[in-house]
Amino acid sequence: MDSPNKLYFGDNLNILRDYVADASVDLIYLDPPFNSSATYNVLFKEKSGAESAAQITAFEDTWQWGLETEAVYKEIVTSGPRKLADLMQALLAFLGRNDMMAYLVMMAARLVQLHRVLKPTGSIYLHCDPTASHYLKLVLDAVFGPQQFLNEIIWKRTTAHSSAQRYGPIHDVLLYYGKTGAIMWNPQHTSYEEEYLEKYYRYDDGDGRLYWRNSLTAAGVRNGSSGKPWKGIDVTATGQHWKFTIEKLDALDVAGRIYWPPGGKGFPQIKRYRDELKGVAVGDIWTDIDRINQVAAERLGYPTQKPEALLERIIKASSNEGDIVLDPFCGCGTAIAVAERFKRRWIGIDITYLAINLVQRRLRDHFHDELSPYEIIGAPTDLQGAEALKEISPHQFEWWAVDLVDALPARDRKKGADTGIDGYINFFDDKSGQAKQVIVQVKSGYIGVNHVRDLKGVLDREKAPIGALITLREPTKPMLTEAAATGFYESKDFPGRYPRLQVLTIAELLAGKRLEYPAHRVETFAKAERKTKSQQEGLF
Ligand SMILES: C[S@@+](CC[C@H](N)C(=O)[O-])C[C@H]1O[C@@H](n2cnc3c(N)ncnc32)[C@H](O)[C@@H]1O
Repeated sequence: MDSPNKLYFGDNLNILRDYVADASVDLIYLDPPFNSSATYNVLFKEKSGAESAAQITAFEDTWQWGLETEAVYKEIVTSGPRKLADLMQALLAFLGRNDMMAYLVMMAARLVQLHRVLKPTGSIYLHCDPTASHYLKLVLDAVFGPQQFLNEIIWKRTTAHSSAQRYGPIHDVLLYYGKTGAIMWNPQHTSYEEEYLEKYYRYDDGDGRLYWRNSLTAAGVRNGSSGKPWKGIDVTATGQHWKFTIEKLDALDVAGRIYWPPGGKGFPQIKRYRDELKGVAVGDIWTDIDRINQVAAERLGYPTQKPEALLERIIKASSNEGDIVLDPFCGCGTAIAVAERFKRRWIGIDITYLAINLVQRRLRDHFHDELSPYEIIGAPTDLQGAEALKEISPHQFEWWAVDLVDALPARDRKKGADTGIDGYINFFDDKSGQAKQVIVQVKSGYIGVNHVRDLKGVLDREKAPIGALITLREPTKPMLTEAAATGFYESKDFPGRYPRLQVLTIAELLAGKRLEYPAHRVETFAKAERKTKSQQEGLF
């Protein structure tokens, strides 16, 4: 089925070019990677094309000056929009060939695509920090037009951050642009401070509704209805006018919404009821959204994860139910999860499979059976694709393979310290509350019986009942014999036998073979518990 929700694995530049249609997206939020902790010396150090050749992670090299950036720069200058071509040449003359310039070149190419896919009513929020926000604003001006600039939103993301010889950098910047002058916009409000409400909203006519008395007049004389005398009061004589027409004043009075001072001393006032307050219109400085702290329930351990409350504000303000939200640097899927929660359709793109794995898990864990269908595009679907992925990046291959058995990648591995665990699954098959573990190892190269023995050793060390050895190559006979010799895990509370050490080839997994562990029981448990809770709450 062609599902409207899509999760793409790959470089967003290619994905946008190849898959996303013109004027098809309502809202774009992007939070591109940026090494703002690198010193200015590093960011602005001149680089030659060859210098950035050997990089470890999938995307770091994309964002450092090298042959690829040079080629994209030339493409923008020769065939990009004219204003952008002019700007990029000026920036190159000013910045030189360094990481900052590489970042801007790569962003420029992507912003051209993002502009193309946005609907005329759509808008874009670019999340960055003050290290690059001023340059990015120029690039956005060149791609979207300076007249489409709407806000520079300052998000206070942390409270204190001491920094030597300067003020603590505690905010991020979100640059907000519309595609045209006619964008979709739902005004957002926040609640008033309790102190403010208590200070002003303290009058009560005896019906329990608290209100504030506010002036009915404003300075300046008017010739129309609002300048006429009302109930014997001549506002014009005092150099003022009514804030409402005479007809409206009559209606307010009939509704009991005018306060008349006792003895006719002083001007009447309008009653503003506390229970009718919409809240304070949200401005462009956001101090009410905390960053994700160490113990936040939504925390997934993804280093650059943003808080859901931030995305909630953006998605509610700039889209409606059924609209399409695109996050081309989706990371662990904050924008995607919030879009799903508020019934938007969504498109997520990320270049690392670690992110793709986490997004899927997050969606499954949050929405269970209510999750809307989605499609994954760009992940290998056959052996050839798996081989190609391994060639491009053994890391990505490993994360993808771990995902094939629905395991979590073991991300806490210190560089160089191999614990023999590439992924793991925690499962419950009894009511003790103690999870048991399936340990997953992935091998993409030569394999032999020693690998089975190694995994057996890890299972013993970690006291894990089940291990899975996922291999790209076919296992040898002695490997299968050795694996079979480790016997079975027998679940105590639920009768069932699961091979302790399972050797699974990528080809088998792609053909639909499943890892055997008491997984279905976890699902049954979870479903049963949810049902009982809903029944208790009378939701049926
Ligand atoms: C700052 S993180 C985004 C975090 C996200 N906002 C969240 O809340 O989880 C940037 C993401 O961009 C991804 N990325 C970097 N270069 C990319 C590219 N060329 N195409 C797609 N994704 C890319 C990285 O893998 C990383 O997950």
